[in-house]
Amino acid sequence: MKSQIKLSFLLLTGILACFSIKVNAQSDRNISVLSNYDARIDTILAQMTLEEKVNMFFGIRMFSSAGVPRLGIADVEYADGPFGIREELMPNSWMPAGLGNDLATFFPTGSALAATWCPESAYDYGVAIGTEGRTRGKDMLLGPAINIQRIPTGGRTYEYLSEDPFLSARLSVGYTKGVQDQGIAACIKHYALNNQENNRGKVDVIVSPRTMREIYLPPFEAAVKEADAWGVMAAYNKVNGYWCSENDLLQNQILRNEWGFAGFIVSDWGGTHSTVAAITNGLNVEMPTGQYLGDKLLDSVRAGVVSEEIINQRACEILRVRLHVKPVPPHEANRIMTSQPRQQQIAYEVASKAIVLLKNEKTQLPLDTAKYKKIAVIGANAMQKNATGGLGAGVKALFEITPLQGLRDRLGNQVTIVYAPGYKPYRRYQEGTRTRQPECTSADPDLLKEAVNVAKDADIVLFFGGTNRDLETEGTDRESICLPSGQDELIKALAEVNPNIVSIIVSGAPVDLRAVNQYSPAILMSWFNGSAAGHALADVLLGTISPSGKLPFTLPVKLEDSPAYFLRNYPQTGEANSDIFADLVNENRSELKSTDNKDLAYYSEESLVGYRWFDTKNIKPMFPFGHGLSYTTFQYASIKTDKAKYKSDETIKVSVDLTNSGKADADEVVQIYVHRLKSKVFWPYKELKAFDRVNLKAGETKKLTLEIPVKNLRYWDEAKYDWILENGAIEILVGTSSGDIRLKTQVDI
Ligand code: GLC
Repeated sequence: MKSQIKLSFLLLTGILACFSIKVNAQSDRNISVLSNYDARIDTILAQMTLEEKVNMFFGIRMFSSAGVPRLGIADVEYADGPFGIREELMPNSWMPAGLGNDLATFFPTGSALAATWCPESAYDYGVAIGTEGRTRGKDMLLGPAINIQRIPTGGRTYEYLSEDPFLSARLSVGYTKGVQDQGIAACIKHYALNNQENNRGKVDVIVSPRTMREIYLPPFEAAVKEADAWGVMAAYNKVNGYWCSENDLLQNQILRNEWGFAGFIVSDWGGTHSTVAAITNGLNVEMPTGQYLGDKLLDSVRAGVVSEEIINQRACEILRVRLHVKPVPPHEANRIMTSQPRQQQIAYEVASKAIVLLKNEKTQLPLDTAKYKKIAVIGANAMQKNATGGLGAGVKALFEITPLQGLRDRLGNQVTIVYAPGYKPYRRYQEGTRTRQPECTSADPDLLKEAVNVAKDADIVLFFGGTNRDLETEGTDRESICLPSGQDELIKALAEVNPNIVSIIVSGAPVDLRAVNQYSPAILMSWFNGSAAGHALADVLLGTISPSGKLPFTLPVKLEDSPAYFLRNYPQTGEANSDIFADLVNENRSELKSTDNKDLAYYSEESLVGYRWFDTKNIKPMFPFGHGLSYTTFQYASIKTDKAKYKSDETIKVSVDLTNSGKADADEVVQIYVHRLKSKVFWPYKELKAFDRVNLKAGETKKLTLEIPVKNLRYWDEAKYDWILENGAIEILVGTSSGDIRLKTQVDI
């Protein structure tokens, strides 16, 4: 108690404005580089007026918040978005400024990056996008977007990384480190549990503490503890009754006190809801205006409702980032074109690693151009650009190679390529009015007829299906995962005249592939894959590189199989319901039963998100999490662990011999899952706990050793409010996907 009084005195007198908990040795709490500025900041704060401090707490332009001009401290310049630096806007509007050199690289979107299963690629990605942010004179990049993909229809599933917290966390760390190594702050978003777009500004996520800790927070925790993220964006929604932007548990207790976050929290745009609660419970900057943290905050301080120590603490957190991130002098910003060859090459490398070969019967692929002299390219998605569309996070790209362009560039006149759109792509607006979400059945008869004519005398048909950025968008979840614009009807008609079909799905999130699967001996998932999408796809189709991507999410047979739909806790329709299984899983937690309030989202599936649900409920997906084929084959042999029994502070070392038993050099992603045996605590059937992407030449064998720190096997005990390790036997499963386990062993912890 005495130390608290002393501390408050020091804080009150402003002597010690930047308060950060002293770290005890063994905790894995982040020790941020930002706290090196605290002594200097105390001096700066002592020179600042109250007005100058409060002036830093809100937007002064759409994407800027104030520094301290009198003391030569620059404004903070922000830039969207997680897969490309947004074009320059007019100072106080969303209108483009019309610059000529702010054309950026369009990087593969989140789910594509995640499909690489490559933290090193995530780092390179961060380096590239961070470089472009600095070229544009920015101090904080509003990314990575790292919420868990809870629902296949999520409007931002394409923008986020994965349904799995471990995969998301590994990539979040790489991306954040890459960005910040360029001297620009990352801003991990949206903290936390922004897993749907419908009603995102009001929805109150009701989630159990254990599920929050084990599923939804790990990507944020890893980015803070392992990458020292300097920025966090508070999400629009509520969590368990409290707005994220004023949620003391999330922002102060967990993020700052437990994890050691030392930077500042910015609201989502328009996502601030109060003055006193926001500033007290951890928010630093209200964007884009000062409705709550401007004059109202000044009045609250003068009225004694908000203390100077809180103001000093929030100001300190901003100044830490401001002093660490060097402002780009205005005359140096935008001196060159934003997108440069080095970044474009990284966009290509990520794109080429992201493409997932879902199916390849009769080894349709790679295309044998000696055999196929006439190729029919059918589907508007072969020409669809995806750098922009829908709401938010658009990239004014210097270029975007479409699939058709990529094929033409790579094939030249070796073969004849004939194209037909086959369907009208979904557009969010028609003649200025907002359209409803697309019909999924009716094909356009004329376009279908034209496409069939083109296909019938081709040697092979490349069918381009999927969605686009108008359909997968921030602010709106899809109403279904069916392929829009009658694509199912179209591919059936194509197959009737030419069964030799390779389907390429261009989408960022799961789609219903039942028809495509029925009529396609080969299927690729090609994502919203950035500026080099077409070249990467052509190189995979033609066998220049082997496909090596793995699904970062489960592809369900049908939407109703996925947990939130199966349990009917999404969309919130107000019908009371709950599934008997949900009651068992929730140990009869009445508060998690759905109710008639559409603003409440009950995460009653708990930790059974994605493959955790499909495995535990024995529901067969169309293609499982982690699935992805190659142009070669891999053999797994001789699984071993370095010990049979492990203590809580040890690390399980799992080794396997991996052989490339085919004819093509290729990458493989070895995945390790853990299954609990005879556990007293509820667990999903299995959980990803390690993975490694390796390149093997044809015929090569490598001994791989992957590590699982035993502490990563703990569960969050809600009663003890702590991570607890349950001793006992566990099974170690090694596989090429969650649905294709090749080796098993057992150890004791
Ligand atoms: C938003 C998005 C956020 C973005 C911000 C600024 O509504 O949710 O991701 O960074 O606005 O554009």
